[in-house]
Amino acid sequence: MPTPHISAKPGDIAETVLLPGDPYRAKWAAETFLEKPKLINEVRGMLGFTGEYKGNRVTIHGSGMGMPSLSIYANELITEYGAQTLIRIGSCGAMQTSIDVRDVIIAMTATTLSTPSRGIMKELNYAPCADYGLLEKAVAAARAKGTPTHVGGIYSSDVFYDERPDLTEQMTRHGIMGVEMEAAELYTLAARHGRRALAVLTVSDHLLTHESLPSQERERSFGDMVEIALEAAF
Ligand code: HPA
Repeated sequence: MPTPHISAKPGDIAETVLLPGDPYRAKWAAETFLEKPKLINEVRGMLGFTGEYKGNRVTIHGSGMGMPSLSIYANELITEYGAQTLIRIGSCGAMQTSIDVRDVIIAMTATTLSTPSRGIMKELNYAPCADYGLLEKAVAAARAKGTPTHVGGIYSSDVFYDERPDLTEQMTRHGIMGVEMEAAELYTLAARHGRRALAVLTVSDHLLTHESLPSQERERSFGDMVEIALEAAF
């Protein structure tokens, strides 16, 4: 401590960490929802802030896009800074007609083709899954807010520009609700280190209807998701 990618001092990072992919969303969320937000990292522009939510210390730190990037930050937050509860907040593409843009998806499991942890699993088809306590509290918080919310399996992809429409079709057929690029590795790392993890996602685009959320609306929808994640953590 500090680590190659995080310059925070010992004690600068809270036991509860929210992980948006985008560092500027970390800044916006910290400045909007936390009291006394303090910048604790800016190595490579990956901003992290620590503040308080209803009297509880929280860090909101960017993870970057994709599982290799998230893996770097989650590993360092867990092993060097003692993060206990890690909640991904981010966007996803919907894969079911029953789900609309702006809806929230809470990921019970994260299906993958591969993760940075794939190599150690060998022939095992490991099933990355969320912490049930966090999941239950997030669902209760979403219900209390009245946010349209879906709970179930998502797909964590290594590609945004996917050349496998056949695979999307199979996942839709098998009930996968949406696609993003980080949750499976977060769940795997949390399981390995005995920590709690969850992904709360806002649907920003729809793979079947091709609808997408206008940029001016992204902030409001993102706000519901941040509050659901914060309520789940404490
Ligand atoms: N694919 C992968 N990740 C995403 C998408 C998508 O369509 N939308 C938001 N994150």
